[in-house]
Amino acid sequence: MSVKKIVILFSGVGTNLQNIISKLHKKKIHSVTYEVVGAICNKKEAQGINICKKHHIPFTLIEHKTYNSREEFDKELVRQIQKFDPDITVLAGFMRILTSVFTKNIKAINLHPSILPLFKGENAIQRSFESDMKIGGVSVHFVSDELDGGNIILQECFQKEESQTLQSFQNKIKQLEFELLPKAIIKILKDK
Ligand code: GAR
Repeated sequence: MSVKKIVILFSGVGTNLQNIISKLHKKKIHSVTYEVVGAICNKKEAQGINICKKHHIPFTLIEHKTYNSREEFDKELVRQIQKFDPDITVLAGFMRILTSVFTKNIKAINLHPSILPLFKGENAIQRSFESDMKIGGVSVHFVSDELDGGNIILQECFQKEESQTLQSFQNKIKQLEFELLPKAIIKILKDK
């Protein structure tokens, strides 16, 4: 039996963290068992920390504010990730720009709430909602040196509705994220 180890990085509410735990943690899918072996967060007030506690997921807090440079923070992040020895590291709402200290050492994927390469960076949901585009969407991609720029693994879109509000647009994005991120993790790990 093959066990694949996942580390999750997050910064906020952690709904995607919860979704990965619900769908994959200790679950056997086509002879592969998935295990969330650890989670790392850069903000001590992040709500997602309670999700880790509730599900007994080993958790590490690395506050970026206490480091003098992005490189120093990334060095510690890499060190802590490597302790868990994961098969993949998943950025699920991890709001940090990462340097080559991270990308050279860690195989990671990122969830982004837009159809990349459109709307890279912050506030992607609002910018995508307010754009002239008739569709919105979600992407999962490999993490590279370029912000939201690595190779795309999976991507899905939906039609905007006439009566769509920012809230209902956000809900639709979330629904797609909950489907797409576990699918991407399985896609990468099942043949690894
Ligand atoms: C998600 O919508 C994710 O796509 C986004 O942060 C949210 C985290 O929500 N990530 C980015 O914008 C990365 N550039 P969550 O904490 O409830 O999972």
